[in-house]
Amino acid sequence: MSNLKTSHPVIQVSGIRKTYGRTVAVDEVSFEVNDGEIFGLIGPNGAGKTTTMECVEGIRKPDRGTISVLGLDPFRQVYKLQERIGVQLQQAQLQKRIKVWEAVDLWASLYRKKSVDGERLLEQLGLIDKRDAWFMNLSGGQKQRLFIALALINDPEVVFLDELTTGLDPQARRAIWELVRGIRERGKTVFLTTHLMEEAERLCDRVAIIEHGRIIDIDTPQRLVARHCPERTVVLDTDDASAEERFRAIPRVESVVRSDLQFTIRGQGDDLVTEVIHCLSENRIRVTDFRMIVPSLEDVFLKLTGHSIRD
Ligand SMILES: Nc1ncnc2c1ncn2[C@@H]1O[C@H](COP(=O)(O)OP(=O)(O)OP(=O)(O)O)[C@@H](O)[C@H]1O
Ligand SMILES: [Mg+2]
Repeated sequence: MSNLKTSHPVIQVSGIRKTYGRTVAVDEVSFEVNDGEIFGLIGPNGAGKTTTMECVEGIRKPDRGTISVLGLDPFRQVYKLQERIGVQLQQAQLQKRIKVWEAVDLWASLYRKKSVDGERLLEQLGLIDKRDAWFMNLSGGQKQRLFIALALINDPEVVFLDELTTGLDPQARRAIWELVRGIRERGKTVFLTTHLMEEAERLCDRVAIIEHGRIIDIDTPQRLVARHCPERTVVLDTDDASAEERFRAIPRVESVVRSDLQFTIRGQGDDLVTEVIHCLSENRIRVTDFRMIVPSLEDVFLKLTGHSIRD
C-alpha cells in the first residue's frame, strides 16, 4: 500500500473554481494526490468529477485557483505534461475500422519519448488475441482495456482514468481493478473518478467525496467510514430465553430488536462486536447464526449528503 512509502504530492490542487455560463461546476476544490497512490474522486452524476480531472490534465482552465502536476502548471505547460501523464477520457471513441495494434502504434507515435513495448502492453491487458481486431468489434470491456493500454503507452508517471468501469459487468470490472492495482504496483500514481462506491472502497487508497462541485471530505475509505458511520450492527439467532436482557445490559448497545429468534443489536464503535461475543461466551448463550453489518462508503455518502449516490 502506498501509505507505507514516504509519500509526497504529485498533484496539488488549491481552491479551483470552474463555471460554464451560470453553472458552477467546481467550487473551492482543493486536494493533493500522493506519489504511488490510487486516488479516487467520487460523487454522483454532474458533481464536477470530469471537470476537476480535466482541469488537472490541462484540458480545461479553471477560472481561479492553482494546480500543479509533477511540478508543472498543467495549462501553461500542457505539452511538457502530456509526455509524462496518461489519460483515459470518459467518452472516448476511435475509428470503427482501426485495428487494436494500429491504435497502439498511432498513440506511441504521438510522444517524443520512447514508448513502452506495445505488444507487451497488449499482453498485460489481455488483448493480444485481439491485436488484429477492429475497434468496432471489441466488447465494452475490451474497449476499456484498450483505452487503458493507450493511457499507458508513454510509460506515464501519473495515469488519469475517468469512470473506467462504467457499463461493464462485475467480472470485467474486477479484471480492470486488478489492472489498476498493477499500475500502482509499477510505481505509478493513479487518479480516477467513479460513481461506484464499491469500486472506490475496494480500489482506492484515498478518496475525495464531491457533490455539487464541492469536496465534502477526503480520507482513506476506512477512516471515512470510521469517522462518519461509527455504528455497528450484529445480527444473531438464539433460542436462549435470557438473551435479550443480557444484550440490553452490554454498555455500548443502543438498541436490541427481536423478531422471533433473531436479534438485531446496534451500538457505536468497533468494540461493539467484541462485547457481544464476550457476552455470549460469558453467559453461555448458544447461537445458530451470527453476522455483522459494517457500514460502507455508500453509507458515508448517504450520511454526508442525505441521499444515495444513485438518486
Ligand atoms: N462543456 C460544458 N458546458 C456546460 N456545462 C457543462 C460542461 N461540462 C460539464 N458541464 C456541467 O458541469 C457540471 C459538472 O459536470 P461534470 O461533467 O464535471 O460532472 P461529473 O461529476 O463528471 O458527472 P458524471 O458522473 O455524469 O460524469 C454539470 O452540471 C454539467 O452539466
Ligand atoms: Mg464525468
